Amino acid sequence: MNAGLQHGAAGGDTPQVARGLEGIVAAATQIAEVDGERGRLTFRGYDIGELAGRVTFEEVCYLLWHGRLPGQAEYDALRAEMSGARQLPAPALAALRELAPHADGMHILRMGASTLSLGDADIDRMDVEANQRRAARLQAQMPALVAHAYRLKNGQDIVQPKAEHGVAQGFLYMLEGEEPEPARVDALNAYLVAVSEHGLNASTFTGRVVISTNSDMVSALTAAICSLKGPRHGGVPGPVLKMLGEIGSADKAEAYIRRELTEGRRIMGFGHRIYKVRDPRGAFLSEAAEKMASITGDPSLLALTKAVEETTVRVLAEVKPGRDLYANVELFAALILHSVGVPSELFTPIFAIGRTAGWTAHMIEQMEETKIIRPESVYVGPRGLTWKPLSER
Ligand code: COA
Repeated sequence: MNAGLQHGAAGGDTPQVARGLEGIVAAATQIAEVDGERGRLTFRGYDIGELAGRVTFEEVCYLLWHGRLPGQAEYDALRAEMSGARQLPAPALAALRELAPHADGMHILRMGASTLSLGDADIDRMDVEANQRRAARLQAQMPALVAHAYRLKNGQDIVQPKAEHGVAQGFLYMLEGEEPEPARVDALNAYLVAVSEHGLNASTFTGRVVISTNSDMVSALTAAICSLKGPRHGGVPGPVLKMLGEIGSADKAEAYIRRELTEGRRIMGFGHRIYKVRDPRGAFLSEAAEKMASITGDPSLLALTKAVEETTVRVLAEVKPGRDLYANVELFAALILHSVGVPSELFTPIFAIGRTAGWTAHMIEQMEETKIIRPESVYVGPRGLTWKPLSER
């Protein structure tokens, strides 16, 4: 029996329940392969290590949407299409101006994303080509949403990106209103590539469920954002940074981790449903963080993160033996995003910018499947109750 399968409460002949759908294969995909035992991640047949440090985020978007890396003309066309699509529709921008002062982080991103259908006359078209174009437009608009909302929340006006900017550079420029240093652009690009896609995780599954009803890509994107927000999924890098701040120095790590576990809390940035080894994205995100540290001259957070990882893995192996708990991508996400110098309340929204590529690729793939995603539940509540009038209950 699969580890995730459990008998229904009534036992006997009741169907089995796969808690958390663990071990259930719900889609056949050509987009990514996540090998949790060997710690390998491949996009469309390319090992992530083969791509890391060599490709731009836009190249990975093309790969995920079209199934192959772009040639120069295709790459230039995608960059031009995305830079031309960054402007938010006027009513969407008006709504953002109204809402952003009252909400932040994933809340404002959720509201903003839902407005991206405004002005899209073909929003309900479900064919692949229209949705490949829609994916590029939404991917271009997500960084604008995050950057504009942050500035508006902080009483600043929005900054439009320059046409020649790619996603990473354009995002930092829209956020800060100044040309970002190339090293920061490279580090953010590495991060976006790292988180762009990861199989049938909770938010991607959510997006596929919405598309399977023949809904539309903006609805599915909004739903995926809602799913990413939680700390069991993408809502963790902010808390990871907070934890590193509370630990403060390597010699305090062990006492802190033991206290958290004794008090029944989970250690943020550790454990994964699929990976039973170190997250393969950790290696090259650490490398990117090392590069940044050598430029900024401040390796302190990098050193602390390494010490916390070593300590936590050791203590978890002792306190939770056999659970195979290792560092996940969020530990390194906190490190790299902090070194890029973006505010921690934007960590999860920036994760959403990167993951939009994978979400939309899965939505396009799901459009070719005609069967709605509709699992079953087993009823385990009471039966045969009889009604009584309100006065007698
Ligand atoms: N710290 C401490 N214990 C942890 C843990 C963590 N970060 N992650 C899992 N465990 C323990 C659980 O307490 C459980 O122990 P038990 O057998 O004594 O009950 C066991 O490992 C299995 O946990 P479970 O929740 O069933 O695993 P899952 O595969 O369903 O959950 C996560 C995966 C990611 C939700 C989980 O590891 C977690 O909550 N991690 C912390 C949050 C985080 O980093 N999220 C980002 C994910 S990329």
